[in-house]
Amino acid sequence: SKGNHRHYMIKEIYEQPIVVAQTLRSYLQRIDDTLTLPIPDFDLSAIRRVTIVACGTSFYAGMIARYWFEQFARVPVDLDVASEFRYRAPVIEPGGLALFISQSGETADTLAALRHARKEGQKIAVVVNVPTSSMAREADLLLPTYAGPEIGVASTKAFTCQLAVLAALAANLARAKGRLTPEDEHAVVKHLSEAPAALNAALAYEDTIKGVAADVAMARGVLYLGRGTDYPLALEGALKLKEISYIHAEGYAAGEMKHGPIALIDENVPVIVIAPSGRLFEKTVSNMQEVQARGGKVVLISDYDGIQEAGSGCLATITMPKVHPLIAPLVYSVPVQLLAYHVAVTKGTDVDQPRNLAKSVTVE
Ligand code: F6R
Repeated sequence: SKGNHRHYMIKEIYEQPIVVAQTLRSYLQRIDDTLTLPIPDFDLSAIRRVTIVACGTSFYAGMIARYWFEQFARVPVDLDVASEFRYRAPVIEPGGLALFISQSGETADTLAALRHARKEGQKIAVVVNVPTSSMAREADLLLPTYAGPEIGVASTKAFTCQLAVLAALAANLARAKGRLTPEDEHAVVKHLSEAPAALNAALAYEDTIKGVAADVAMARGVLYLGRGTDYPLALEGALKLKEISYIHAEGYAAGEMKHGPIALIDENVPVIVIAPSGRLFEKTVSNMQEVQARGGKVVLISDYDGIQEAGSGCLATITMPKVHPLIAPLVYSVPVQLLAYHVAVTKGTDVDQPRNLAKSVTVE
């Protein structure tokens, strides 16, 4: 049931602190602050390449995970949407890990890609929310998310739970490859276990976001910009807005802005900039200023420091708690989801059952 909530989507957005904590319980051992996997003796040490395949929001989780696999484990990553993967003659060397990400575990293209990868001699890892699904049954390494049933067609809590599992998997792989000292491992466990509280803190900004949503609801189109792991989040923000509010939206790598999309900028196209303070902040801010110099209206999602530094001149700012970069993609998912939700509610669209969409896509 929806409980006190008006829609399943908002209920599921609010469940995130609990379901992420529930999911992390299978991947972190708080007794000694170490990482674990649901199949603890699964040997990752020989993995030389990871191939990530998924669709939609699950694909964006995979895109974020690519940064983690490369950064922590220094393992090269191939990444593709499932409907393209099989048809581009991918070069897959035997002995790799093929990783499939799916809420439902039934998405036809992803399942077909999984079977193809098995034929190509890959070990099959599956991050999946439905434990009885086809993908769950066909996995060598089953990595469940414990988001509980997701009813809203637009995926929210399944996404943040996928991110939690993928961060833990990347760190496990790094450890298996001898690239994670015990101190690093404790730090990863500590950061991940801070995610539920940080998600709660992010949820406290719903009222600010409601105000922003009133402006965005009037827009002809919306751009989302981010760098690094915030780039896939920009794509996810645009997808979420399109799906439930029917406003055209695009996500771009912030640095790509000046290579074309900047031509779209005027006062009727709000630009949502996702930029926690840190290593990439200055670069993203300079892209944001390029937008502002052309009359573009910016909504900056950052932390207190970032907003102090660059928030003036923005149409609105949304302040996130200051968090470690590892969990930032989880935390910054919340304002992105809430913004799409409140724009849709403002427009009066059917949030839980958007037109033309199905929860589980079982045709290729
Ligand atoms: C977006 C959304 C879809 C799914 C996609 C894959 O909000 O829900 O893009 O993410 O259809 O579905 P699963 O994860 O079930 O394979």
